[in-house]
Amino acid sequence: MLSSLVAQPEDKIIRLIKEFKDDPRQDKIDLGVGVYRDRTGLTPIMKSVKKAEKQLWQTEQTKAYTGIAGDPEFRNSMVTLILGDQNPTGKVSTIHTPGGTGAVRQALELVKVAVPNSCIWISDPSWPNHLSITRHLGLKIATYRYFDHETRRVNFSGMMEDLSQVSSGDILILHGCCHNPTGADLNQHQWREIANFSLKKNLIPLIDIAYQGFGDGIIEDTKGVQTMVQNLPEILIAASCSKNFGIYRERTGVLIAIADTSLASNLAQANMTHLNRQNYSFPPDHGARLVSMILNDGDLRQNWEQELKTIREGMIGLRQSLVAELRRLTGSDRFGFIGEHRGMFSLLGATEDQVMKMRKYAGIYMVSDGRINVAGLNEDTVPILAKAMLDVGL
Ligand code: LMR
Repeated sequence: MLSSLVAQPEDKIIRLIKEFKDDPRQDKIDLGVGVYRDRTGLTPIMKSVKKAEKQLWQTEQTKAYTGIAGDPEFRNSMVTLILGDQNPTGKVSTIHTPGGTGAVRQALELVKVAVPNSCIWISDPSWPNHLSITRHLGLKIATYRYFDHETRRVNFSGMMEDLSQVSSGDILILHGCCHNPTGADLNQHQWREIANFSLKKNLIPLIDIAYQGFGDGIIEDTKGVQTMVQNLPEILIAASCSKNFGIYRERTGVLIAIADTSLASNLAQANMTHLNRQNYSFPPDHGARLVSMILNDGDLRQNWEQELKTIREGMIGLRQSLVAELRRLTGSDRFGFIGEHRGMFSLLGATEDQVMKMRKYAGIYMVSDGRINVAGLNEDTVPILAKAMLDVGL
């Protein structure tokens, strides 16, 4: 049996982790995988998380199973964190999933059960796993233009032109904030336009929000999601706690489904719970418990918000330093877009050849599409990147 398998294409981000590790150069710079790093290159455990872990260790009485849908307090806390006062009570169903990827996977499985013939619209470019999970499930895929490679900003007219081809009941994958890989986000006016368009065309948005708090603020980063929730009867939201709580390996995420009626909501809850049971039964608990402890304890929450603010401001500061260095070297503002992008990533507009040259001559590792992880930089490496970018002709 096993010899009849065919090799699977390797994910470019996962491959990059290995390539970086195998490079013996001491001064190599990792701008690859989307993991936050402090200025020493460490991915620290947040102090609020450590405190919660200590409390949990002291008070946890059992490790017996939680519910199949996951712990209700965690799920409700995540709904409040993301939807704020736009919570359509009685119409929200949730499951705890292993990470944001688990939530995307479960969302697409739900789509497959409910509307198997619908087409999944994915931004070009997008996080590679959006395409590969959709393909793996055998769902129909279409892409829409998202990024203007000249201005390095959102190509909104191209996006809307491509989306004019949607059919009723299709699924539209959107990034809630901090678009991965481009760093270019929709503005409020554009979110409203997409909400109106989705309503008119009966499009169901699947919003992937993996970087809440990394853009402009914990609340600010949910404005797009909330605009959609305010205006549309049905929405799926896949959220991750990997980055904003720094608990990557704990695999903590949530899938939220908003339905039009409480009857549909009950059906959604039952089906999502069923999908958890089929795919992995009970979701992992540790990370979810830490998140709900932090969100529901005044002190822990204050600590977490402060830590997240420091991370966010650090990344914005690095963006500004890179823009300033490039301005100094070029005497122009043509890299100003890096300062406007938000979150961990920016798509520089480098060709694969330029990316490979920066790797070979300067030891700088970024994804082959030219995506950098800004958090991989520090004040010493900003000038090295800026010089390398110009040396390869960017
Ligand atoms: C990334 O885009 O680098 C992260 O979301 C990590 C991953 O799983 O790809």
